Amino acid sequence: MANILEMKNITKEFPGVKALDNVSFSVKHGEIHGIVGENGAGKSTLMKVLSGVFTSNQFEGDIYVENALQNFESTNDSEKQGIAIIYQELALFPELTVYENIFLGHQEVDGRFINWFEAIETANRYLKRVNLDVDPETKIRDLGVGKQQLVEIAKALSKDVKVLILDEPTAALNENESENLLQLLKELKQEQGITSILISHKLKEIEAVTNTVTILRDGKSVATLDSAKNEIKREVMVKHMVGRDISNVYPKRSNIVEDEIIFEAQNITAYNSRIKREVVKDASINVKKGEVVGLAGLMGAGRTEMALSIFGNPKEYKVSGNVKLFGEDINFDSTRDVIEKGIAYVTEDRKNDGLILKQDVKKNITLVNLKTLVNQYKFINNHDEVNVSQKYIKDLNIKTPSQEQKVRNLSGGNQQKVSLAKWLFSNPKVMILDEPTRGIDVGAKFEIYTLINKLVEKGMSIIFISSELPELISMSDRIFVMAEGKIEGCLNHSEATQEKIMQMATK
Ligand SMILES: Nc1ncnc2c1ncn2[C@@H]1O[C@H](COP(=O)(O)OP(=O)(O)OP(=O)(O)O)[C@@H](O)[C@H]1O
Ligand SMILES: [Mg+2]
Repeated sequence: MANILEMKNITKEFPGVKALDNVSFSVKHGEIHGIVGENGAGKSTLMKVLSGVFTSNQFEGDIYVENALQNFESTNDSEKQGIAIIYQELALFPELTVYENIFLGHQEVDGRFINWFEAIETANRYLKRVNLDVDPETKIRDLGVGKQQLVEIAKALSKDVKVLILDEPTAALNENESENLLQLLKELKQEQGITSILISHKLKEIEAVTNTVTILRDGKSVATLDSAKNEIKREVMVKHMVGRDISNVYPKRSNIVEDEIIFEAQNITAYNSRIKREVVKDASINVKKGEVVGLAGLMGAGRTEMALSIFGNPKEYKVSGNVKLFGEDINFDSTRDVIEKGIAYVTEDRKNDGLILKQDVKKNITLVNLKTLVNQYKFINNHDEVNVSQKYIKDLNIKTPSQEQKVRNLSGGNQQKVSLAKWLFSNPKVMILDEPTRGIDVGAKFEIYTLINKLVEKGMSIIFISSELPELISMSDRIFVMAEGKIEGCLNHSEATQEKIMQMATK
């Protein structure tokens, strides 16, 4: 089959980092082409080069689309060639409607009057093509991530896309949503001949849908696998990604959970005044010393809302109930109080809540607990600050050229590690981890599981929110299952199975 596009000898450097080192990459007409690699391997950068985010004077090498040499000066230029990229972090406008988002920046409507009635009709047509059943006049902010993702694809289709690039599209989706999305890619390929490039850390998905896989390691292309030759297998990919075998997915934990309950959230009810409904309904959970307690549920079941209610109570929430730490009521109206008492919350949404992207790695890590670094003269001890951040960079294996690198410039997975480091440094008693392994490569996942084990062995307690059931089941001592804001039940490690959890979660 002929190639729809080729990238030849691409080299891209950032100050202090060679993100891509002489990478050649080609994609065949109508295939689904996977790209895998560890955090920071260069996957997103390669796709940014392809889609014109970096202009041709910002990298070395050549791009050919249908054998014609390209010279992209912007994403508009690549769009004209039928290339559309859907980013790791979604890029829709939350305050605008679905149809406005679909038509925003549209070539055809530029400089002309827009017939909004027609726009809605057309939007409906594209929404159908992605199997999304929403009113085009819904605001984006009122849709879950899964649906937003589909709106992005509808938008790409409306621009006559030939090559659809998806950078970790399923990272924020639950299993059903992920399956729908992957099914859609297959349909688009079979029915309309649309080529897709899929970046994912979920190797099972890559196994299931791709025809070809390119593996990047440290900015180099180290292997290309072909499904026709039966080469696309998890073990093979992992080996190329990390340069060694990883057989153990979950590290063993050796601690014994103590009986003492140290954290309790009792009868938490949260009303979200913005969307005008109760997002958490009379939910109670408790956590023992040294225990990992999982919180399972479908998207929208209220897991993050529960965490947010406990952790300082967002403005638009009205929360009732009690939160007890070591048997003592704590004032959970104030995030500052909650942090001071020893509760930490590593958010799922690192872009909006977790990190200060324009600050450097060091500042982000030390920020929450800066006061411990203040010396007797009331100055921040720079030397300690450097040591502390160096320690976490090493412990969590954060890939950054220096502590002074701005967090914005780190790869997605490495940003997540910085967010984790920041809360670890606050030395909490109870840590809420909300999707901590989202967007994280296999090697780093193992590091995070190992870290969780070490923390509970030291007596910390962890509330673990995850949509990946195998991970949740393996890591949790007990699992509370939520559905529609309520706690449906609690399963012990020994009795928890994916089926049981799904049954409770879909009540
Ligand atoms: N704008 C930037 N400025 C400086 N360095 C950057 C910038 N963008 C990326 N990098 C660096 O380039 C390397 C490759 O990053 P890239 O985002 O392509 O990785 P990735 O494979 O997509 O990783 P992940 O799986 O974590 O998303 C990393 O070391 C990253 O820190
Ligand atoms: Mg990336």
